[in-house]
Amino acid sequence: MGRRILIASGKGGVGKTTISAGLGESLAKLGASVCVIDLDFSFNNLDIVASIENKVVYDLGDYLQGKCRLKQTLIEFKRGLNLYFISSAKVDTDNIDIAKIEEAILKLSQIFDYII
Ligand SMILES: Nc1ncnc2c1ncn2[C@@H]1O[C@H](COP(=O)(O)OP(=O)(O)OP(=O)(O)O)[C@@H](O)[C@H]1O
Ligand SMILES: [Mg+2]
Repeated sequence: MGRRILIASGKGGVGKTTISAGLGESLAKLGASVCVIDLDFSFNNLDIVASIENKVVYDLGDYLQGKCRLKQTLIEFKRGLNLYFISSAKVDTDNIDIAKIEEAILKLSQIFDYII
């Protein structure tokens, strides 16, 4: 079971996204398999910070709406590094299926050493 690390803060603009992307890359460079998920449904920008915005086909919002399978949301950072990102989308937070997110994180933690 992979280790799950939540980077959260009540305050905006303090470096949550930057730390998540950087920690993910650092752990992957140490040889771990890592998946970094953007769970910010309002100001989601992990894809831009990680420079993978042009590779996004499906995001977490698509998965939650049943438009794709979980594996289709995984975006490889670059070859040779076991680092994947899952991009988020603007989603109406009143209608988010928390159980489906928990289930997705559980599935991912069976594949990856770290889920951030
Ligand atoms: N350790 C750091 N030192 C200096 N600047 C930083 C550091 N970490 C992040 N920043 C800068 O601070 C700004 C906000 O960072 P970031 O987007 O990671 O924060 P956030 O907490 O995810 O914000 P939001 O609440 O909007 O999601 C960015 O311009 C980023 O480049
Ligand atoms: Mg952020």
